[in-house]
Amino acid sequence: FIDIRKLQPSTGMCTFDPGFGSTASCESSITYIDGNKGILLYRGYPIEELAAEGDFIDSTFLLLHGELPSKQEKALFEREIKYHTLVHEQLIQFYRGFRHDAHPMAIMVGVVGALAAFYPEVAEVRNPQQQLRACYRLIAKMPTLAAMAYKTSIGQPIIYPRNDLNYAENFLHMMFAVPSERYEVDPELAKALEIIFILHLDHEQNASTSTVRTAGSSQANPFACVASGIAALWGPAHGGANEAVLKMLEEIDRLGGVEQIPTMVARAKDKNDSFRLMGFGHRVYKSYDPRAKLMRQVTYRVLEKLGRKDTLLDIAMELEKIALQDDYFVKRSLYPNVDFYSGIVLRALGIPVEMYTVLFAMARTVGWVAQWKEMVADATGRITRPRQIYTGELRRKFIPVYERQ
Ligand code: ACO
Repeated sequence: FIDIRKLQPSTGMCTFDPGFGSTASCESSITYIDGNKGILLYRGYPIEELAAEGDFIDSTFLLLHGELPSKQEKALFEREIKYHTLVHEQLIQFYRGFRHDAHPMAIMVGVVGALAAFYPEVAEVRNPQQQLRACYRLIAKMPTLAAMAYKTSIGQPIIYPRNDLNYAENFLHMMFAVPSERYEVDPELAKALEIIFILHLDHEQNASTSTVRTAGSSQANPFACVASGIAALWGPAHGGANEAVLKMLEEIDRLGGVEQIPTMVARAKDKNDSFRLMGFGHRVYKSYDPRAKLMRQVTYRVLEKLGRKDTLLDIAMELEKIALQDDYFVKRSLYPNVDFYSGIVLRALGIPVEMYTVLFAMARTVGWVAQWKEMVADATGRITRPRQIYTGELRRKFIPVYERQ
């Protein structure tokens, strides 16, 4: 602790915690993580059980409402989500304004924020009914908006949602169906994608969720808050890591494959080199990320189903083996995180690399809105307003331009 009063007498007592490694910013009953034991629970339910036995609708309802839905609640909730999958036709014009090669995350930041223009009633953020409707709209419309970003980028007509399909199936349909051609969603691959979504739904106060809460603390509307979360997720230190991992593995492959791994590991350890092993390390997990374990299983399952081998998977497994035997990684408790295997499985599912972080954003929207809803329900909530340690000049006298050098 630094007593900031010695530096700035008017500030009062405060903590200095860059990166908030030791600061809890809120109370929350949504997600529990034990980083030392590698435990992740959504509302008390282990992620492993939700992924194996539940589905997207169960986990989403659970995160939003605190309990698993009854049969009837589940049917109603699913119907409600499907009711909101379409977007306003005028929003489609937005897509025409982007360059054809725009990164889909750039498009998502724009169009999700723009949703607020179509639902002006969300300005009333204290109205619980409006809050819930905005949460449902965001969850339902994200796959539509994401698939539209992809279709625009490849110059194909957009495909409208099909409400007879479930969340993951419908997303694959909107991504890969082409008018006038028959497209059948493979239910096994859609199930694998659904598990990937479940693993990404929420992760307590990470950078993007904290951003959503910070924006929401000013009573900004939920569409604007989620747009700010998408922006924060985009960076390679956070959700952008899945794209960065795949590019790193491709680079190792291009340079000669597994023999190149020791060079990459040496680079990651070199403090004069800004290179880091992407998909390794986590602020909270100091053991194996439980999501990464499940992601590796899904990867095997998908490759087996497709009857495919992937050299990038061989490289990833060898990289993990070498890094986990290296003193540098052992001492710092650096293990693979959720992003390490997700790129390989998404590639096998035919998802283009620029869409990886978009898929993360789609799933994490559930966590963002659950956290936003919890925050706005707390009437005692205060606007987020951290202090700082000022390191600049103290009072100086203004010098008119004609007297300056
Ligand atoms: N490769 C090499 N060294 C690393 C790595 C890595 N991937 N991650 C951390 N380190 C080292 C740091 O250099 C530091 O070393 P030092 O003690 O000698 O200075 C030490 O481990 C601690 O690292 P910090 O950066 O202080 O840890 P922090 O908690 O701030 O960062 C982060 C966590 C951003 C995830 C980091 O591990 C990283 O950059 N990893 C690669 C990017 C990545 O995979 N991000 C996805 C995270 S999961 C998610 O957002 C969904």
